[in-house]
Amino acid sequence: MHKFFFLPLFLFSCGIDLQKLNQAPSALRIKKSKLDSISVRQDIKLVASYESLKFHLLEKSCLNCHGKESSVALKTVDLSTKEMVIKYADDIYYSITEGQETGILPMPPLDSSSPIPSMEVGEVFKKWMDLNYVDG
Ligand code: HEC
Repeated sequence: MHKFFFLPLFLFSCGIDLQKLNQAPSALRIKKSKLDSISVRQDIKLVASYESLKFHLLEKSCLNCHGKESSVALKTVDLSTKEMVIKYADDIYYSITEGQETGILPMPPLDSSSPIPSMEVGEVFKKWMDLNYVDG
């Protein structure tokens, strides 16, 4: 059987639309060798662990302003390490839940284009706090 027969199936299972991939400008086309690492990142499950929350919460909604350099520029807290996330956990949890509901220090800020974390992400973050930040 032709060896590329399974490629569309593989791309589909990675959530990558083959048609869109083909329409993309060539600079954006992904080499097959790179697909493996991408699909691994897409597979990170939402669980109570730092790595998972870094992916689902921090990188998506926070680190563009709270990363190493951006935090300095914005004169706010650097949330790019696990230690800092633990130190500010109460504030982080507040800002993504009650803060969003009350409008008092919501994070990401209301006028930001960063996505607001889902309630589920908030609940998993709380679970990670309750588990005393053990990764598992
Ligand atoms: C668009 C930029 C931006 C994004 C995105 C953003 N923040 Fe902020 N954040 C700020 C700024 C600016 C401040 C300082 C606000 C102030 O002190 O009034 C701040 C303050 C905070 C504080 C208070 C820090 C302190 O000094 O006590 C926490 C905690 C926080 N952010 C958490 C988060 C979390 C968690 C996310 C992601 C869900 C997030 N932020 C996303 C810009 C951002």
